[in-house]
Amino acid sequence: MKTEILKPIRENIRRAGKLIRAGELVAFPTETVYGLGADGLNAMACRKIFAAKGRPSDNPLILHFSHLSKVEQAAKILPAAEKLFAAFCPGPLTIILPKTKFVPDDVTGGLSTVGVRFPDNDVARAFIKAADCPIAAPSANLSGRPSPTTPQAVYNDLRGKIEIILDGGACQFGVESTIVDVTCEVPEILRPGAITKEMLEEILGEVKVAPTITDKPRAPGMKYTHYAPKVPLTLIESSDDKIFRREIKNLRAENKIVGVMSSQELISKLDEEKIIPVTYGRRSDLKSIAANLYESLRNFDDLPAQIILAEGVEDFGLGVAIMNRLRKAATFILRD
Ligand code: TXA
Ligand code: MG
Repeated sequence: MKTEILKPIRENIRRAGKLIRAGELVAFPTETVYGLGADGLNAMACRKIFAAKGRPSDNPLILHFSHLSKVEQAAKILPAAEKLFAAFCPGPLTIILPKTKFVPDDVTGGLSTVGVRFPDNDVARAFIKAADCPIAAPSANLSGRPSPTTPQAVYNDLRGKIEIILDGGACQFGVESTIVDVTCEVPEILRPGAITKEMLEEILGEVKVAPTITDKPRAPGMKYTHYAPKVPLTLIESSDDKIFRREIKNLRAENKIVGVMSSQELISKLDEEKIIPVTYGRRSDLKSIAANLYESLRNFDDLPAQIILAEGVEDFGLGVAIMNRLRKAATFILRD
């Protein structure tokens, strides 16, 4: 199958909608990352998503909507969700709700709940309207790889497996939506994103954070298979250039080609080191780091670095989402 990257003009959006109704897959942009979409009420179509990504079938998909009136068919709208819809939708938030019988078990991995999301992206909204059904979509990467934030990144992972990629340029936020479960007594964040705990608490009152996010993984030496670049990554939870210099020196003594992924602020202090530098943004602007994070990781696919040293950021606000992804991408974690 030939994979085409198409400009999101009306004719192409219409074609994408038709493909979805025919049970096929379409990759499309959102404000967070690119999604790999299928008709969310068509079990056969959704199974194709798992096959294309190499995704385990028990990892549930979320449903994307363009309009509130369409949600009722798929999910029970709890009062907390109504408040969140009013405050943050469309936007980078996924709300876990009880599902209806119309949502196939293939979408939810057999769970009784389903994730509901309203992407804040004109191309995504036009595409969902054209398809005229809830769009089930995970991030459009091969399972285990960094999420794609450009059409080219989708192409690199899924070339030959899907017919079209709608080109919406680079994604605005760059990390996936915040996931909040409102089916429990106290709402719980299952994945941190651009809608922060503090923002949710303003609307809902007390909000918990799932232990899987706050539990600092035991370091060093824990192995993860998420968001992983093709070479090992050591996350250094510090911005101290002395620590980076020490690690670079040790690795160079082993004849390793060292890549460093960090802020402009840190890179500028390492300009005498023999490294392959990739700047992921400015430390003073976490939004720039979130937006560039996955592309920075993917950059190393085409560079000769044999190991990546990555700079951590502070675990606060948007930094929680960035650190969550960096820890999952890391083979080793070094703390002060
Ligand atoms: O920003 C995003 O959310 C992007 C764009 C494309 O919308 N989508 C995305 O989907 O990141 P995915 O499948 O890569 O991540 C969704 C996460 C998965 O970790 C899945 O396990 C979890 O949401 N999830 C889905 N349904 C769930 C449910 N009913 N209960 C708990 N977790 C759920
Ligand atoms: Mg994903």
